[in-house]
Parts: sequence; structure tokens; C-alpha cells
Amino acid sequence: MFITFEGIEGTGKTTQIGMLKEYLESKGREVLLTREPGGSRVGTELRKMLLHVESKDLTSLAELFLYLADRAQHVAQIVRPALEEGKVVICDRFADSTVVYQGYGRGLDPKMLHELNEIAVDGTWPQLTLLLDLDADTGLRRAMTRNMQDGTSQAEGRFEAEHISFHNRIREGYLTWAALKKERFKVADASGTPEEVFEKVRHFVDQRLEEA
Ligand code: TYD
Repeated sequence: MFITFEGIEGTGKTTQIGMLKEYLESKGREVLLTREPGGSRVGTELRKMLLHVESKDLTSLAELFLYLADRAQHVAQIVRPALEEGKVVICDRFADSTVVYQGYGRGLDPKMLHELNEIAVDGTWPQLTLLLDLDADTGLRRAMTRNMQDGTSQAEGRFEAEHISFHNRIREGYLTWAALKKERFKVADASGTPEEVFEKVRHFVDQRLEEA
């Protein structure tokens, strides 16, 4: 079972992923947590390149190919082997982030991006994608507070520095894309407490596990 989490900054993905891992382990499943960009060894280097504030001179296309390179390596080296071992793999962001950020955000063609993703993931698509949905104002406020607390502002602040209109576009892009890929996406309102949000996450995961 391959589960991915998506959403704008500050939706609480990390918290939900932690809660889901604990929940699944309590049901006797082995869980691997991973993320993009950066889930593999090479990916850690690519992540630094992609997210540093000094990378703002990256062109949209160069940025795209770095995300795709990260994904191809990550799927082949980390995700697919873990699935083959019978683990549940939970990934913080995956191919849909490319369609939404590079497509709806930066203006590249979402259909072309989906085709490039097909090449990068080589058949390994998630069975369930949880979109944590939140308005951009609230999300950014949460992300800023977090960055100030843990000091990631210089190292990984590139996206948070984007204008609010960019984040609004991303939020809308996610909702549009999720509606186009209904069979895989579940949308959870992320404005409540972590426990409230997790109620919905757990419901969707249980449902998918029963179907499987
Ligand atoms: P991340 O630390 O995952 O952000 P968050 O805390 O919001 O989850 O940072 C990843 C950033 O990279 C995020 O702003 C979205 C962006 N991104 C893309 O633009 N395209 C992609 O394909 C991926 C995987 C991420």
C-alpha cells in the first residue's frame, strides 16, 4: 500500500503522517515514512539545491527536471523496494506536487507534467493520495511560525517567500487536480485540530485498506 500526502505549506502534513504511522503500526503493519524532494541519498543533495533561498535563479524547467530526477531515484531506490517487502509506504509529497507547483503554480502544462511523472514513477502510483486542504492565509501563517521556531527560514524558505497569490493558486490547483483524479484523491479539511483532521485521514485510510 502506497499512500501520499499533499497540500500547501502549513497544512500539518508532517503531524498527520506521524499519527498515521503510529496508527498503522498499532494494527501490526510495517511502515516506511519518506518524502520528496529528498527521500534518497542523492535526493538529499537535490533537496538542498531546490529549496535554498539562493536558488531563486533556477528556471522553471531546470527546477522541474531536478524534481523529476529526485522522484525517479526515490521510487527506484526507496519506494518500490519497500512496497515489494510488503511495507506500507507513506510519502510526504509526490508526483502531484509537480503537477500543482510547477503546473498550476509556475505555468507549465499540467498534462505534460503528468506524462513526465509517468516516466519518472514507472508504474509506481499511490493507491491513496490525501489532500489536506486549507486556505493559503492560514497555511502560510502556520508555516512562518514553524520556520521561525525551527530555523529553516534560510535553508528551506524559498517557497514560503512566494507571494500569497502563488499559494492561493496552489490551493486552487490542488482542488482542480484532485477533482480530475477522483479515484485516487481524498480531500480532508485541514482547518481543525490535529485530532479532528486525523479522524478524517483515518477514515479514508481504513476505507482504502478494506477495499484492498
Ligand atoms: P517541503 O519541506 O516538503 O514543504 P512542506 O513543509 O510544505 O511540506 O518542501 C517542499 C517544497 O517543494 C514545497 O514548497 C513544494 C515544492 N515541491 C515542488 O514544487 N514540486 C515537487 O515536485 C515537490 C515534490 C515539491
